Amino acid sequence: MSVISIHNLVKTYPLGQLSVHALKGVSLEITAGDFVSVAGPSGSGKTTIMNIISLIDTPTQGQVFINDKDTAVMNRRELTRLRHEEIGIVFQSFNLLPVLNVMENVELPLVIGKNRMPKAERREWVNHLLEEVGLQDRLGHKPSELSGGQQQRVAIARALATKPRIVIADEPTANLDTATGERVLEVMKTINKTEGTTFIFSTHDPGIWERADHVVFLRDGLIESEKRR
Ligand SMILES: Nc1ncnc2c1ncn2[C@@H]1O[C@H](COP(=O)(O)OP(=O)(O)OP(=O)(O)O)[C@@H](O)[C@H]1O
Ligand SMILES: [Mg+2]
Repeated sequence: MSVISIHNLVKTYPLGQLSVHALKGVSLEITAGDFVSVAGPSGSGKTTIMNIISLIDTPTQGQVFINDKDTAVMNRRELTRLRHEEIGIVFQSFNLLPVLNVMENVELPLVIGKNRMPKAERREWVNHLLEEVGLQDRLGHKPSELSGGQQQRVAIARALATKPRIVIADEPTANLDTATGERVLEVMKTINKTEGTTFIFSTHDPGIWERADHVVFLRDGLIESEKRR
């Protein structure tokens, strides 16, 4: 079964009198439990595609199906709900809340709503996640007191907090040194294996995309090739 299926995705950004053709007709099937890397050089369309499958942005043309549901026929509320229930997102620019410390940022999605967890259980789970990303000694720090790489690891832990079925991460290791990037990838892979969570992450780093089970090579807004392990 496809958790994400996109058909002939086109994204054109207006730019003054001109337009930028960021995606020129991209089709892709992502099955449940897949560990997918969207690889490609700067400007190839990685962020554009990640934003569209995260339901943050809409395509100019083409279709996006999540769990076989056509997202084009869903209203804003249904889209938001689908996103909150199914998808964990890691942004290229972390998007952490500056007034909250590391622990609070990660546990925020578990404090209210459908994903609410009792405090003791929540603290234990969040501690575990922060340990996995190597930040157990930074629980009380504010994002501004962390390096870029550390902030990215907090963002990854937060995306994993609700145990979403799908995690979409745009360049999750771009701001990390090689060893830390490897560790973050290992965390994602472990959760992929143990929970069956589908991961889709973009990267321009060969050392990272080589670790994926399914690599989609983007170039100039088109899929150049695809490799499955
Ligand atoms: N809001 C926008 N308005 C106009 N053009 C845009 C916009 N966002 C992206 N683009 C253009 O679309 C193309 C694809 O951009 P995108 O951000 O998806 O690339 P990317 O593969 O993520 O690159 P990077 O590795 O640098 O993050 C680029 O040519 C970019 O300049
Ligand atoms: Mg990008």
